[in-house]
Amino acid sequence: MQRTVEPELMDDETQAKAYANADFEDAHNQIIEAFDLNFPNEDMEGQILDLGCGPGDITFRFAARFPETSVIGIDGSNEMIKLANERKTGEIQLRDRVAFVEGFIPGAPIPSGPYTAVVSNSLLHHLHHPEVLWETVSQYTSPGSKIFIMDLFRPTCEEDAQQVVNECAANEPKILQRDFYNSLLAAFEPQEIRQQLVDANLSELVVKVISDRHVLVFGEKH
Ligand SMILES: C[S@@+](CC[C@H](N)C(=O)[O-])C[C@H]1O[C@@H](n2cnc3c(N)ncnc32)[C@H](O)[C@@H]1O
Repeated sequence: MQRTVEPELMDDETQAKAYANADFEDAHNQIIEAFDLNFPNEDMEGQILDLGCGPGDITFRFAARFPETSVIGIDGSNEMIKLANERKTGEIQLRDRVAFVEGFIPGAPIPSGPYTAVVSNSLLHHLHHPEVLWETVSQYTSPGSKIFIMDLFRPTCEEDAQQVVNECAANEPKILQRDFYNSLLAAFEPQEIRQQLVDANLSELVVKVISDRHVLVFGEKH
C-alpha cells in the first residue's frame, strides 16, 4: 500500500483536545519502559528534547522518570502548545524542569542545547518530508547523545489498518479513530525508515518493530 500523507500539524482545537483527553496511560508508560529497556542503567542528566510533543504527556513522563534533567517540548500546533502549558500549570513537581516551544520543524526556534537525548513519539508519520526529522535529530545531538524515536508503521493494506483501529481504539471518539486510521496510512514501513537513516548518515541507529503497529528507532549518535 502506498503512503497517503495527512496534515502535518494537529492544529484544530477539537482534534487537539480529543487527543489530549485520550487515554494514553498504558501506551505512553510503555514508551518510558521501552526507553529503559533499550538504554539500560541510564540515569540521565542535562537536557532532553521532545520533538512533536503535542499536549506534553510524554514530555512530562520523561521529566518524571529522569529527575536530573530538564525537558523541552517542541510542536508547531498553537493548540497543542496551549494545552501543554495549561497542563504544566498543574504539574507542581515537574513544571520547573519542563518548557514548551511553539515552532514548525524545520525552522522551529529550538534552544541550542546541548541535548543528552532527543526523543519523539508519533511525529515522523506526520511529516511530508521525513528527512526534516533526521536533519533536526542530527543538528541537536552530538556524539553519545541518545536518540529515541517511536512511531507507527504502515500496515500492508487499508483493511489491516482498519482492523488495527478496531482492535486498539474501538472505545475512543470517532475523531480519534479517524486520526488513527489516517496516521496508519501516512506512516512509513520499517525498510523506508532504514533508507531514511542511510540517507541522513544516521545508520548507527537501530530500527526495531516492537509491536503489531509500532516501530522504534534508537541508538547513540556516533
Ligand atoms: C500524534 S501527535 C504526537 C504528540 C506527542 N508526541 C504524543 O506522543 O502524545 C503529533 C504532533 O506532531 C506535531 N507536528 C506535526 N508536524 C510537525 C512539524 N512539522 N513541526 C512541528 N510539529 C509538528 C503535531 O502538531 C502533533 O501535535
